[in-house]
Amino acid sequence: MPIAGIYGPDDFTNRPQGHLTASPRAAPARKGPELPTPSLAWTPEVARATAPLYERVKHVIPPIEWPLMAPAILAINELKRARGAVILAHNYQAPEIFHCVADIGGDSLQLAVEATKVQAGIIVQCGVHFMAETSKLLNPDKTVLIPDSRAGCSLAASITGADVRLLREKFPGVPVVAYVNTSAEVKAEVDICCTSSNAVQVVESLGAESVIFLPDRYLATYVASKTDVKIIAWKGACEVHERFTGEELREFRKADPSVQIIAHPECPPDVLAEADFTGSTAHMINWVRDKRPRRLVMITECSMADNVRAELPEVEMLRPCNLCPHMKRITLANILQSLLTLREEVTIDPALAVRARRSVERMINLKN
Ligand code: 13P
Ligand code: SF4
Repeated sequence: MPIAGIYGPDDFTNRPQGHLTASPRAAPARKGPELPTPSLAWTPEVARATAPLYERVKHVIPPIEWPLMAPAILAINELKRARGAVILAHNYQAPEIFHCVADIGGDSLQLAVEATKVQAGIIVQCGVHFMAETSKLLNPDKTVLIPDSRAGCSLAASITGADVRLLREKFPGVPVVAYVNTSAEVKAEVDICCTSSNAVQVVESLGAESVIFLPDRYLATYVASKTDVKIIAWKGACEVHERFTGEELREFRKADPSVQIIAHPECPPDVLAEADFTGSTAHMINWVRDKRPRRLVMITECSMADNVRAELPEVEMLRPCNLCPHMKRITLANILQSLLTLREEVTIDPALAVRARRSVERMINLKN
């Protein structure tokens, strides 16, 4: 059914003015035992040591570019061992990060679940700030680093904890579900979190007639189309997925009617209406592994198409993809710096973290 209502900052005259605390704060510079910068020269030893890693990405990284990346990849992997660190990378990270330095890769749900199992004392989050905050919430005693704390998200920046309190005043007793693409401050105000992998399941788990679902209006519309629960939405959107149009997908189909199109549920409804399959980044990857289409249009962030092609070169990717500027802030150079200097450390006020953690854990503990 259509969403039952949609609200945004302009709908609350009593909304506190000021900055959106959902924007990532610059983490304090942590004074730690800094290590010297290793040599980043391209030598025969580096070529030999990184050859197995190049095998993983040879279909998406031209040989001429490898000597520019390999020394940093080798240095990062050595430093990881020296520091006792683990690297978590989202599916939107560039292939040289996702396939060559990450220990664990996945969608937001997989990364949150894996974060609960980490043994290492240091987590380097290659993704955006809310993902690093989620890892910190689940690992309060560990050091969680993000190589560039400016890596934000238009969804997380669209809503504050105060906005959630105003929504609760307007709809007393209606439970609130927050997409994990929110700040810890917002997570602290809601009943439970969800990701695009489990949004419908989370909404239905509450047993309520109506649910406030925030902040992504398009994910909310998608969820509303899959459930009888009345969905009250927030006017947030992903700046990457909202740019796709149904028209551009129809053009691809006209050019080749056999093409398969798969899309992320953060896309507008006219885009999803044209897709053969809709799912989270992990569900999209599993769909490609399972179906092995000859020609594929992946309606999501560009690096994911590269990461899938590195694994399945026989799938021809047509690429009307969009880059996420926030995800692209993470680079080999700043991952290396992060491991050398132990910056930038993610910190969350402990009292707020207790409440935010409850919302994330409630989601993780939901039975499938
Ligand atoms: P997933 O949970 O599907 O990985 O999505 C996260 C995200 O930020 C998509 O834009
Ligand atoms: Fe946020 Fe969109 Fe980037 Fe995902 S792709 S991190 S939702 S801005």
